Amino acid sequence: MPEVEATPYWLDGNFAPVQEEITAFTLPVEGAVPAELSGLYARNGANPRDGHSGHWFLGDGMIHGVALRGGRAEWYRNRWVRTPRFEGRASGNPLDLRGSVANTSVVAHAGRVFALVENALPMTIGPELETLGYEDFGGRLTTPFTAHPKICPETGELHFFGYSPMPPYLTYHVADRAGALVRSVALPLPAPVMMHDFALTRGHVVFMDLPVVFDLGLAMRGTMPFTWSDTHAPRLGVLPRGAGAEALRWVSVEPGYVFHVGNAYEEADGTLVLDVAWYPELWRGGPSASRFESARLRRWRIAPGADRAQETDLDDRAIEFPRIDEQRTGLAHGVLYAVQTGAGPDRDAPGDGALVRYDLARGRNTLHVFAGGIPSEFAHVPGGSGEGWLMGFVYDRIRGASDLVILAASDVEAAPVARVHLPRRVLQGFHGTWIPDA
Ligand SMILES: [Fe+2]
Repeated sequence: MPEVEATPYWLDGNFAPVQEEITAFTLPVEGAVPAELSGLYARNGANPRDGHSGHWFLGDGMIHGVALRGGRAEWYRNRWVRTPRFEGRASGNPLDLRGSVANTSVVAHAGRVFALVENALPMTIGPELETLGYEDFGGRLTTPFTAHPKICPETGELHFFGYSPMPPYLTYHVADRAGALVRSVALPLPAPVMMHDFALTRGHVVFMDLPVVFDLGLAMRGTMPFTWSDTHAPRLGVLPRGAGAEALRWVSVEPGYVFHVGNAYEEADGTLVLDVAWYPELWRGGPSASRFESARLRRWRIAPGADRAQETDLDDRAIEFPRIDEQRTGLAHGVLYAVQTGAGPDRDAPGDGALVRYDLARGRNTLHVFAGGIPSEFAHVPGGSGEGWLMGFVYDRIRGASDLVILAASDVEAAPVARVHLPRRVLQGFHGTWIPDA
């Protein structure tokens, strides 16, 4: 008998889209919001306007935001990112840099806040999550803009890339600390691949040419147009910051896929270290509506001159959304945080979600278990006298609504510092960030 396709996972349970944009003021708080937190937590995700999408990654972007000021949870808002496609005014050309959704991440740089998706230009967002319009850097940016740019804490530069199914397949860009696009370097790739993230260190950038390749047939079917390849050789491309394409050096890795790099840095002898959420395989035969692969934390070490990375699993639990204190981007991090994604492929299976704090320097892992809760990504918030805080949305299955949960980063096992009760469910989304008031 043919298999009957159930509701795809991204339209079911707490992945299901919400219908309305709402605004709520003065939210109830359990515990105490740290008084020094003054700003906005904003998190992006896919929330298809008409309730349907061909893949979790393809729905219209919606940002959920909570403003914290003076120890209070001032407001909650959720707003769709009003791209031309959302408004029904897109060209329909899949290569149109103004024709996509903006559903993946929120990143602030040089006084601007971007809603990002990897196949389009950034959309700028205002302080109450209103859409302001596309940013093309004065007409100079002619490629898509990754959802995972990196801000160098030492120079204030914004490093990013764009990848495309059409040549040039990969272009590396740098904007200076004032937000002006100052460098664009096209890099050679043999074939178009899905490249979701990259790595920055003090002296290098590292690109991931991994075996999930562009597939036109899948594109025609309206799903994510990428599939696993047994023949595409997996490699990392290492480029010194400031160098031209001729300085790009390739290093082999085991077959596998990485959406997210937690961080990368350089050791004293020049060895590059990357901590990544690594999938042994992804999307064989194309993305599935029911299958959910699991990643684990893996370390890639690239010695100077080596043509192959040394690979070590740092843990065997299933994790995603690795994050660090971004003041350490490109520098040795010591501590990394990630969300445990459950024991099996069924993310809706009963079971408590957890956040893991990896103390990599001391080889010690600690957990915060969200009893009855399903966590989304947690972002790090610097401040206070120590390691700062971690902040993210947790869906409370009993209450049928979500909380913004704030944990002390140094002691994730402790009870939350604060739980801000939101008036509604916040669906499982992608990436958020804390944007302090200027
Ligand atoms: Fe991502």
